[in-house]
Amino acid sequence: MSELSALGLSDWLVKQCRQLGISRATPVQENCMPAILQGRDCMGCAKTGSGKTAAFVLPVLQKLSEDPYGIFCLVLTPTRELAYQIAEQFRVLGKPLGLRDCIIVGGMDMVTQALELSRKPHVVVATPGRLADHIRSSNTFSMKQIQFLILDEADRLLEQGCTDFTKDLEVILQVLPAKRQTLLFSATLTDTLQELKSIALNKPFFWESKSETRTVEELDQRYILTPEKVKDAYLVHLIQTFTDEHDDWSIIIFTNTCKNCQILTMMLRAFNFPTISLHSMMKQKQRFANLAKFKSSVYKILIATDVAARGLDIPTVQVVINHNTPGLPKIYIHRVGRTARAGRNGVSITLVTQYDIHLVHSIEEHTQTKLKEYPVEEEEVLQILTQVNVTRRECEIKLESTDFDEKKEINKRKQLILEGKDPDLEAKRKAELEKIRSQKKKFKEKIQENIQKQKNAHGERKWIPHCFHCHQVATKANLLSKPTQLGFIIPT
Ligand SMILES: Nc1ncnc2c1ncn2[C@@H]1O[C@H](COP(=O)(O)OP(=O)(O)OP(=O)(O)O)[C@@H](O)[C@H]1O
Ligand SMILES: [Mg+2]
Repeated sequence: MSELSALGLSDWLVKQCRQLGISRATPVQENCMPAILQGRDCMGCAKTGSGKTAAFVLPVLQKLSEDPYGIFCLVLTPTRELAYQIAEQFRVLGKPLGLRDCIIVGGMDMVTQALELSRKPHVVVATPGRLADHIRSSNTFSMKQIQFLILDEADRLLEQGCTDFTKDLEVILQVLPAKRQTLLFSATLTDTLQELKSIALNKPFFWESKSETRTVEELDQRYILTPEKVKDAYLVHLIQTFTDEHDDWSIIIFTNTCKNCQILTMMLRAFNFPTISLHSMMKQKQRFANLAKFKSSVYKILIATDVAARGLDIPTVQVVINHNTPGLPKIYIHRVGRTARAGRNGVSITLVTQYDIHLVHSIEEHTQTKLKEYPVEEEEVLQILTQVNVTRRECEIKLESTDFDEKKEINKRKQLILEGKDPDLEAKRKAELEKIRSQKKKFKEKIQENIQKQKNAHGERKWIPHCFHCHQVATKANLLSKPTQLGFIIPT
């Protein structure tokens, strides 16, 4: 790591960094900052928690201090919470400049935002959807003077996931000057390299951290093989163990749906664990409030959907639990990257059912790491199994009585109307699609099962169902004659 001053940063900025505990540059900063200061476009790919934010914030502040005018820099990011975090970094590091920033994200008051935009802030940090709305609906601000366009989590902004940003990005790019510096950062840039190159046109400087693995060395990556029905009992057991063994701990649990997020939160609360949730069906103010309570350790456990998977920097997080195995290795990398940041240690534990083993293989192949089994006293899990499952069912019933699904449906319809689509027509289309998808899924599962069988036959890690009571390995014969309490299913 080299001295910050040797990289071309001014004394005031170096001093400001020192006050925040940043004395030497991390490799991504050391390599990307000089290129940015020279005026080049830049694409930086470095592991989670390696200081990519400061790698773009510092050169922008340096350039801004030389020739300040607004709006100087636009940062786009996929989530609202991340936008606030980035704006905070700009604010803290740019304090001596009297930096004016403005955050433009969905779920907050549009009129206030429009007013702030018209006051020409130096830096705008935005999620693409809301900024595109402002561009479409107002002419009270101009982005023609922008010198820097930054896409943090650039690959997510350009991929067509459940939230598709591409249309909004088109609207935004149209109002930006062609002559600008474009900076793209992510821990997983390489899959979308071609799309990214069409945005950073000027022979971008490309830097990727050289490492055999794609996750950090300080991260202890574990898995637990569990039948679906026993997952929650494992979860409660894991949290109980951490509570008993550590004084200073905080955990993020990732799950796949907003509903599951809500149910798990209710369930863990029923067991008196200080739990709070973060998902996209919550009101925005509630989302911010919950995250703030988790950051300040008022609540030690955050249950979140993938809305919290990228970028969030919360140093106290020592454990990440994947309640579902992520379907894509990329998502796994970002989720587990919420711990073991900036050289700290951390643990990730992924709950894996027999149907997810191929996903683990794919994660291992992609990250070039081998996940190790997490040792658990199965007897202890078995003891709480019934209580946990009954509690979960109670929470499900409670949630059903609050019209959670109805609210979700109404939110979806509102969104479709805003997008100018007919909700009923869309519902029909979706049902058709769902039918095709389910057929495809069944087909895929069948193939995966066959592949798994073949792999097992070749001596790879095996899913060995066994009885929790007698520890006898389950065979089709003994399962059928004497079902285990845990109801293992043997792939046929
Ligand atoms: N040079 C440095 N020395 C020490 N700490 C640093 C340095 N640069 C950044 N940090 C700290 O490291 C932490 C992680 O930084 P940051 O959030 O920028 O990571 P990232 O690379 O963007 O990760 P992710 O891919 O998860 O978004 C932050 O708390 C930040 O303050
Ligand atoms: Mg980041």
